[in-house]
Amino acid sequence: MALDYTKKTIGHFLRPHNIGEMKNPDGYSRIGNAVCGDQLDFFLKVDKGIIKDVKFLSFGCASNIATASVMTEKIKGMTLAEAKKYPWQKIVSELGGLPKQKLHCSVMAVQGLKKAIEDYEKRHGLATNKNSQSGRLSKRKNKASQVKKSVKKKVSKKKLVNRKLSKKIEGKSRVK
Ligand code: FES
Repeated sequence: MALDYTKKTIGHFLRPHNIGEMKNPDGYSRIGNAVCGDQLDFFLKVDKGIIKDVKFLSFGCASNIATASVMTEKIKGMTLAEAKKYPWQKIVSELGGLPKQKLHCSVMAVQGLKKAIEDYEKRHGLATNKNSQSGRLSKRKNKASQVKKSVKKKVSKKKLVNRKLSKKIEGKSRVK
């Protein structure tokens, strides 16, 4: 069954914009989808917080190529903050729609872009850690270790109380 691609999607697939590798990028990401096995690489050149150039490589389906192509076209010239907020729905509307089973391709494109921006921020000491994937992970780790510590504390407190109690009981039974 042929997929219902728009003319624009087919155009971006056949003649993708900004495709290729970039030497010495300021930010780079590789993202893959475990379900369909597709993969995208993004390369960024940033100057004073503005995306001056962006390139991508695709190892994916037609809409993987088309979504990355249209997104890279739109985000060039944006500030990093603007590009980070670029929604996947905008890619879909730019292409005039996507088949339902291909919507995830546009989600993957924006995730790859965000990851490349995070890489840029990390390299330049700008990572806020607040919203980044790695930041969220380390936040979760911190919370887990805090819970572990408090459980340990409670257990050792209980042990101490138990020891005191058994000493008391021992003392009483000796008196008797
Ligand atoms: Fe998964 Fe296109 S089918 S990215």
